[in-house]
Amino acid sequence: MAKRIPPEKVEEIYNAADIVEIVGDFLQLKKRGTNYFALSPFTNEKTPSFAVSPSKNIFKDFSTGKGGNAITFLMDLEGMTYVEALKYVADKYNIALELEETYEEVESKDVRDSLYILNEWAAKWFNRQLTETEDGRKIGLSYFRERGMLEGTIKEFMLGYAPDQWEALSNEALKNQFNEEYLVGTGLCFKSDKDGKLLDRFKGRIMFPIHNHLGKVLGFGGRILDKSQKAAKYINSPETEIYHKSKVLYGLYFSKNRIRDLDQAILVEGYMDVISLYQNGITNVVATSGTALTDDQIKLLKRFSKNVLLIYDADNAGINAALRGADLMIEQELAVRVLLLPPGDDPDSYVKANGKSGFEAYSQEKSKDFVEFKIDHLMAQALPNDPMAKTTVIHEVASTISRIPDPVRQSVYVQFTAEKLQVAEPVVENALRQALLSKAKNDERQARFDKARKDRESAQNSQLQIGKSPPANDYPPDMPPLEVLYPEAFANGETAIVTPPREIHSTGLTISQERELLRLLFNYPSAPIKIAEGRVEGQEVKDYIYEGPLANYLIQELEDMDFDDPVLNKLKIQVTEHIAQKGTIDVNQYLSHQGPDMISLITELLTIPIEVSKNWEKYDIKAPKMDENLDDAVYSAVMHFKLKKIKQLLKETHQKIKENQDLEKLDDLLKVYAHLNNLKQELSKELGIVIHQ
Ligand code: GTP
Ligand code: MN
Repeated sequence: MAKRIPPEKVEEIYNAADIVEIVGDFLQLKKRGTNYFALSPFTNEKTPSFAVSPSKNIFKDFSTGKGGNAITFLMDLEGMTYVEALKYVADKYNIALELEETYEEVESKDVRDSLYILNEWAAKWFNRQLTETEDGRKIGLSYFRERGMLEGTIKEFMLGYAPDQWEALSNEALKNQFNEEYLVGTGLCFKSDKDGKLLDRFKGRIMFPIHNHLGKVLGFGGRILDKSQKAAKYINSPETEIYHKSKVLYGLYFSKNRIRDLDQAILVEGYMDVISLYQNGITNVVATSGTALTDDQIKLLKRFSKNVLLIYDADNAGINAALRGADLMIEQELAVRVLLLPPGDDPDSYVKANGKSGFEAYSQEKSKDFVEFKIDHLMAQALPNDPMAKTTVIHEVASTISRIPDPVRQSVYVQFTAEKLQVAEPVVENALRQALLSKAKNDERQARFDKARKDRESAQNSQLQIGKSPPANDYPPDMPPLEVLYPEAFANGETAIVTPPREIHSTGLTISQERELLRLLFNYPSAPIKIAEGRVEGQEVKDYIYEGPLANYLIQELEDMDFDDPVLNKLKIQVTEHIAQKGTIDVNQYLSHQGPDMISLITELLTIPIEVSKNWEKYDIKAPKMDENLDDAVYSAVMHFKLKKIKQLLKETHQKIKENQDLEKLDDLLKVYAHLNNLKQELSKELGIVIHQ
């Protein structure tokens, strides 16, 4: 259950979070001018395009378009959830969070911490048994050696050996002041049915600690050494307060950075497969712990990459697992490929025999997009010349396609399937329609079921919005490289970073106006501005219609007008309320109350200043109007927006006049129309002065 972090605490965390310090823990920052630069952690680049602005407390990654504050940085880079990121920062700055937790929560947190500590200790102890005791070396270490495990690998994955005795670990742990309750709580020990004696769960096995993606030991897998024994090949920790096997991916802690860099994860079945691939240089690999893939595992993986290569054994169990797992992943927008190894091989044996390059060559040649894999597999199973076979296959494949959320991708697959099965496209389309229909019915049933459950849970749940991670905003693909546009930023270290002028590439003019208004508001909320009506260039103004902070002017002008873009409109309403209540806005403080999506949006609006390179002109890009003259910028933005609104109203009124039957009403409508038209004229004139000076 998510812990509640009260708003004041969130604010405190935000205030403490120094973006340079936090980013600096992960990247090598170099100071240039007032800003800092690093190589982007999200791409493999040679010239730094990752910028941190200490004054705005934000970062911007020009190579991917990602941007945000210290919290969203942790989410982007480390794949943390919002709450995890807040906790990380709280921890770093010694901000105590337990205060607001209920007694039971504190209790359970203490218990969980104790379980982690015990597991960590046990992992080290098992490792020492393996490397330092005679039995461990003779039995365990020689087994690992036989299977080609190198010393470094054993150390990195903390592999170990559990002595073949009932009370080896338990005695040692009790001696070290770990209490019985926790020994049972971690599943490392259990109480004998007969006499209640504390006994070791793992004995005479080689041990694989199972880390979560942040490196904490949640539980263990233990493999038997002697195949002739009747016992299960693997014993895993039971479900405990900290170990939920459906939520863990084995190896993710070691592979997550690599998965993100390569933008692909390899999913295999076994612990040994993960370790062996990893040792052979294929390090973007994870495994489920011998269970079917779950939604939670997919969500976890998806944080690091949306491309997955499934490698399963070529036997029926393996193929069925692949078919099931892939369907789930497709539903979550992952792009799935499947690779079957030659019969009798698993990833471990294959990579041992063929090395990294052999493995990669094989994968290159044999891996298939999941839909193709499914078609091939089903067709291969069908009896030759069975007329029904194709029908069944079409329905089966359509059912998979119906799970793809993106309709464009759906239709690509429809085309592909029709071609591959040599049938007309409408045949597949039809099957897809049926599949979508039955899926909709299922989903509805499921939704009703889920809602009932959620309603029950939501009462106790966190008040924090744990949203999706912020969407990456794409750097316009047709822009010249940043080094060309902003040589100053990359060469002599002057402060010359400009957020690429996205508006220029945007076709939605109205939305770019709305963005511009909010951009001004968030960048200069308390800048003093003076607004005069009907100014003429060069002529001194005596009467101002407004003098005061910029934000308040904007709010006053925009209060009654909706934005067309629903998200920007939501933000506008929120800010309006905020300023109405507080009289002003402190952007950092405001950000501390927002969910990740809003933070990302607002950060995008917060430009890092300023100074435009001459190269803009060379590439025929209009330099964005800089904010030297805020009075004009604000006034012009407001007037443009109003003009647009008036044009919309004119259009609507015009339509009403055309449709109107009632003479009396017509008169009114015409008056309204004339009035609006007047306003339009005035505004245009006004804007003429401001724009074409
Ligand atoms: P090796 O046989 O040593 O190569 O191990 P492996 O990791 O390749 O195992 P295998 O391919 O047989 O099984 C894949 C995974 O399924 C294992 O890593 C375990 O997580 C799980 N598994 C296998 N056998 C058992 C079992 O008997 N009980 C349980 N609970 N899990 C098992
Ligand atoms: Mn194996």
